Amino acid sequence: MITSKYFQFIPNEVEICDEDFDKRIEGKNVVIDMGCGHGDFMIEFAPKRPDTLFVGIEVMRKRAHKTGHRLAKRNLTNFHMIASPGEKVLKTLFPANSVDEIHINFPEPWLRERFWKTRILKPTFIVQAARILKPGGILNFVTDIETYAKYASWIISRFPYFRNNYPEPYLKDIYEEFPTLFYRKMSLLRHINYVSFKRI
Ligand SMILES: C[S@@+](CC[C@H](N)C(=O)[O-])C[C@H]1O[C@@H](n2cnc3c(N)ncnc32)[C@H](O)[C@@H]1O
Repeated sequence: MITSKYFQFIPNEVEICDEDFDKRIEGKNVVIDMGCGHGDFMIEFAPKRPDTLFVGIEVMRKRAHKTGHRLAKRNLTNFHMIASPGEKVLKTLFPANSVDEIHINFPEPWLRERFWKTRILKPTFIVQAARILKPGGILNFVTDIETYAKYASWIISRFPYFRNNYPEPYLKDIYEEFPTLFYRKMSLLRHINYVSFKRI
């Protein structure tokens, strides 16, 4: 018998090997919360957008488990949870032109340059994001680390698939509130930086 906590049931879980996932999302408004953590972003927006399917992607299974239960406890049904590394999920599960929005909220910055390869936002991720986003789709990125915002905006703008939604590479403190746990922690300490691009 499997007793490990890592095999606990996650409500609305989709396995990375699910071959029917493309049929489940076909024709739907699809929003990805990449590195969803405790799921506050989906808890805020899923009830307000009942016609949209939210997909929370979280590499830590135990966290994905808690988040799935947090959403289910609120009787939310318009979500899926995927407990796997983000880039692999985009590559494996999502067909081209199938997603309306990708949100990356407060990803780990991995500040030392030799660890940048560990960052979620890197060229291979951006290529996958461009592939799965519908024309006009949105790629949003939020961070308290200004150098990461600068890097994110620069690296995304290197690709011909995206246009900046803002007049500047990134904007600071444009919202009074932002519904994630890390916003609540980090906005007490630092400015919050917002990057937003549209799929051309
Ligand atoms: C700093 S937390 C932010 C959580 C949430 N978005 C927020 O704003 O409160 C970053 C989250 O991303 C997850 N994460 C890190 N690398 C990931 C990856 N490659 N794929 C999916 N999730 C990842 C972490 O486990 C963590 O829960």
